[in-house]
Parts: sequence; C-alpha cells; structure tokens
Amino acid sequence: MYVCVCNAIRECELRRAALTSTGDVESVYAALGKRPNCGSCLEDAEEVLFEERMMGNAQRAPIFAPLTLGEPRTA
Ligand code: FES
Repeated sequence: MYVCVCNAIRECELRRAALTSTGDVESVYAALGKRPNCGSCLEDAEEVLFEERMMGNAQRAPIFAPLTLGEPRTA
C-alpha cells in the first residue's frame, strides 16, 4: 500500500526507513531521496514511523533486567 502517492512511497519502504533513519517524516523522506509534495500523507506517515519505531524498540528491549547474583557493587 502506498503511504505517499506523490512520491510512490510504500508502507513497507517507510517501515524499513523508520528503523534506519532518524528524525521526523521529512528527514525519513529525505533519506529515501524524496521530499513531501502535497503533504496529505504526512500524518499517516508519521503514524507509521511512530508505530514501527515503537515496535522495533519493544522487540530489541529486554523484557526484564537480568538478575545479578553476589555482592552488590560499590562505586
Ligand atoms: S501524498 Fe505524500 S506528498 Fe503528496
């Protein structure tokens, strides 16, 4: 599905770019070699970036901190 019709940016491309590019929608579009034209996609694109980055971070983050055994460390 196309998120941005003006630039023919597909949702899957945007999701991939969300994980390799930082910044807002315009920055991610720039990383793809595009720039917003009509702007009607920006809100949806922003949502896709947010969703993908949150899901990506959730998958990389540990569910809980590992237990440490032994004496507590002193600084
Ligand atoms: S649909 Fe993305 S800039 Fe027009």
